[in-house]
Amino acid sequence: MKVFLETFGCQMNRLDSELITGSLISAGHEFVRDRKSAEVVLYNTCSVRAHAEDRVHSRLGADGQRKADRKSGLIVGVLGCMAQRYGRSLLKRHPHVDIVCGPGQIHRLAELISQVSMGQRVIRLDPSRTDKRDAESEERMDWMDLLRDPSPPGASRAQAYVRVMRGCDNFCTYCIVPFVRGAERSRDPNHIVREVARLVDAGRTEITLLGQKVNSYIWRDGQAVRFSDLLARISAVAGLRRLRFVTSHPVDFTDDILQAMRDLPNVCPYIHCPAQSGSDTVLKRMNRRYTRSQYDDLICRARETVPEVVLAGDFIVGFPGESESDHETSADLIRRSGYKNTFIFKYSPRPGTIAASKYEDDVPTSVKKRRNNDLLAVQAEVGLAHHQSCVGSTVEILVEGPSPRSEKQAKAARPDCTQMIGRTRGDHIVVFDGDRKLAGRYIDVRITGADSLLLFGRLSHS
Ligand code: SAH
Ligand code: SF4
Ligand code: F3S
Repeated sequence: MKVFLETFGCQMNRLDSELITGSLISAGHEFVRDRKSAEVVLYNTCSVRAHAEDRVHSRLGADGQRKADRKSGLIVGVLGCMAQRYGRSLLKRHPHVDIVCGPGQIHRLAELISQVSMGQRVIRLDPSRTDKRDAESEERMDWMDLLRDPSPPGASRAQAYVRVMRGCDNFCTYCIVPFVRGAERSRDPNHIVREVARLVDAGRTEITLLGQKVNSYIWRDGQAVRFSDLLARISAVAGLRRLRFVTSHPVDFTDDILQAMRDLPNVCPYIHCPAQSGSDTVLKRMNRRYTRSQYDDLICRARETVPEVVLAGDFIVGFPGESESDHETSADLIRRSGYKNTFIFKYSPRPGTIAASKYEDDVPTSVKKRRNNDLLAVQAEVGLAHHQSCVGSTVEILVEGPSPRSEKQAKAARPDCTQMIGRTRGDHIVVFDGDRKLAGRYIDVRITGADSLLLFGRLSHS
């Protein structure tokens, strides 16, 4: 059948979508880029903020209309975090949905599609956080992690994601993830290393390890394997040029991980470690389990041990009870951090979380918007200073492909313009004039300019 798949949310979902694509292609399905020509429409969804869910609701509304208008059948499936959160109740709002499939059940999707084509409606959710059957589905997922889309559309063939853990047990009070992605489980390090080795054999040279709190990875079978041990084992895979990981939790960023980053040459000096707030009162109410001074200390330790380290953060503005002075402390943290970039989000109450039931969403939308803009403005200054400090240097980049602007120029019949983008080891995005054939290669560029988000470079012939 002709399948259209749209992905929302984090890298975890992007990886799941690659796996879904790989498994459906091997089951004989074909992927199309145009929703209108599809016989099966799938959404791999995110519940982290209301906005992410609203987008899917509106897609589903339109599909319901199309299904009603169309003579031939259309199969509509909701996968991932929203499927898990709403379960059967999704059908009340969208009665035309045929498949509701939790994030830990995507290995069954081919089977679910064939059940639907025989006239059934299927709801397959993950077991609860404490259910023993989880282990069975874990094994299948480990197996499935090897089955990946052979040709990810538009992506450089050099990069791949590898999951090292699932779920989260932290229960930050605002966050839906522990409810939809289940309990924290680390994967067997032998499986992970084998998967990386297979990917490298297949030509992937940059691997990004994924976990909601990737650095709290721990495998306790015999001698414990910590995240730093896992990094050492993976970095020894011959042919692996770059090893990255996201997202880190500040509490679990112990010195052994920083030392591993310093000592293992292919581990990239990049840490995405969300702070969420600069204020102790807010951090406490968020149940983040660290104080501002502990976060500051992490930044100091990271810069001391890995001097070339590049940092990125996340912040939430307008968390319940956030005062103007709390907000100022977040701005101050960004000012002092030297972040390359930050992701700033307006607090969105998620039904079922502690914050949504215990605290009133008392910061008005207009104030959230203004605080969001305040932090963006501070980060723009900090990001500019950070990127400008790279001007004049020559750096190695992995070329990812043509820049979006260049794609537009090509469509405007100007194929001579090949503005390309690549990434440094520190995750800076570099824009340069080059050649499409460079995609997937490592090259040196000389940095000639910068703005708050990008570096601009020239091919270096040295
Ligand atoms: N596991 C990752 C983050 C998961 S969600 C971690 O712990 O770092 C990604 C980001 O979304 C979070 O870092 C947070 O900044 C933001 N976020 C999560 N829940 C939110 C909510 N209810 N409202 C607004 N932003 C939220
Ligand atoms: Fe959510 Fe907190 Fe877990 Fe991150 S650590 S996934 S923010 S509960
Ligand atoms: Fe969203 Fe689920 Fe990821 S809620 S952020 S897609 S884990």
